[in-house]
Amino acid sequence: MADRVFIFDTTLRDGEQSPGASMNMDEKLRIARQLESLKVDIIEAGFPIASVGDFEAVRAVAAEIKECSVAGLCRAKFKDIDRAWEALSQAADPRLHIFLATSPIHMRHKLNMTPDQVLEAAVAAVAYGAKHTANIEWSAEDAGRTDMDFLCRIVEAVIDAGARTINIPDTVGYTLPNEFGERINMLMNRVPNIDKAIVSVHCHNDLGLAVANSLAAIKSGARQVECTINGIGERAGNASLEEVVMTLNTRRDIMPYHCRVLTTEIINTSRLVANITGIDIQLNKAIVGANAFAHEAGIHQDGVLKEATTYEIMTPESVGLTANRIVLGKHSGRHAFRDRLATLGYTLSEDDLNRAFSRFKDLADKKQDLFDEDLSALVEDEVIRTTEHFKLLRIHVASGTKDTPVAAVEMEIRGEHVQGAGWGTGTVDAAFKSIAAIIPEARGVTLDLYRVEAITGGTDAQAKVVVRLTNGEQSVQGLGAHNDVIEASARAYVHALNRLVQKNNRSVDQQEVV
Ligand code: KIV
Ligand code: ZN
Repeated sequence: MADRVFIFDTTLRDGEQSPGASMNMDEKLRIARQLESLKVDIIEAGFPIASVGDFEAVRAVAAEIKECSVAGLCRAKFKDIDRAWEALSQAADPRLHIFLATSPIHMRHKLNMTPDQVLEAAVAAVAYGAKHTANIEWSAEDAGRTDMDFLCRIVEAVIDAGARTINIPDTVGYTLPNEFGERINMLMNRVPNIDKAIVSVHCHNDLGLAVANSLAAIKSGARQVECTINGIGERAGNASLEEVVMTLNTRRDIMPYHCRVLTTEIINTSRLVANITGIDIQLNKAIVGANAFAHEAGIHQDGVLKEATTYEIMTPESVGLTANRIVLGKHSGRHAFRDRLATLGYTLSEDDLNRAFSRFKDLADKKQDLFDEDLSALVEDEVIRTTEHFKLLRIHVASGTKDTPVAAVEMEIRGEHVQGAGWGTGTVDAAFKSIAAIIPEARGVTLDLYRVEAITGGTDAQAKVVVRLTNGEQSVQGLGAHNDVIEASARAYVHALNRLVQKNNRSVDQQEVV
């Protein structure tokens, strides 16, 4: 056990704090199921007091996931703890995660509390949570900038009050690896009851050091790492799970620790999170970027062909990467389609499967070669549309070198069939205007991001479009995939509008709950 590192995944909580990444309950459940297949130890499912939507999502994840501990985040307040505990009631192994800031900056400017008051509040909250469960994690928010004497004092006190995991976040990604490692070292040496708790770390990536800091902490005695898939999270994100895990696996010679993560599920998990959140993976991202295992220079290609280890320190297969091969064609049946989706980590309901299969047949008629990426994009596009207020039925655009682009659209808006038209500076602009003309909720909304990419090579490739919309404080992303770029764009725009409406409903909930 001394060498075991527990992997605490916070994609559904801190990851969701990435701009535009909000997920609905169904999306969170799908990611949670995949995290269970990936065999993380703990899934932080959300912050139950934040909104009814968050509460329901934590409850649904807790009810379904049985192979991982499920954590709910709470401030050091009794009402947060009660709410989180209620959301976790059906979990096989529930964890309460209570946090309170401990740095001088946070205590003075954010909390307006003295260190003694913070210590008292932390102890009271942990003792209160401990009445529900022994599985209490306590986090010293902004520990990276906390006075070390105070950090030791408060950690000792919360362990006495019942905390069994002590999390040391570098909330603003400020520390350097040797410095952060030294902080953990000091805690291990100076806190007399530290052996009663597992020390955890939670590093943000503002200086690009989140993974390095997490690894330095492990060397100093931390045995839990909090991280996210693809490193998503607040601002520059969190330590990336796949980088931490693959470093432990690859450098066992100098990092003799192990975790139970099933690394061959990494790629499926990474793609699922990217597809659901719309946050793309940079091409050269370690482990999961499209170029991570690509060899461009001739001398490298030659070396790899002769002996893979010349330029590969881990195999593509070890992270679940299979060669980009043609997987299915127009003659493939429903069975083969369902099996391939299962390999990609998708288990669909009969209804979703039927709709996805019919889209697949349409696509197979138009596109010669179908790859895994085509199937994931198509399934994501279809499945996300089950709970829509607005549905795109048909779109027609016309444009030419000397003509003003125009669009005509047919939609189902809250069950009613509505038609609209618009013109614009280009075909995408015209399409969006024709949609905005018939959806009242589109007024006053700004388009912050429009990104289009071809999912595979070839002029018949499907287009994947990401659209980010902002309305006041709310920011959401929408996704669309189709072999027609205008239709993919319109689908992404409509998806984002649906999410905006869902999010507005959630923020009304939030006012009621908090
Ligand atoms: O970054 C942070 O400090 C956090 C805590 C709530 C653990 O996310
Ligand atoms: Zn964080």
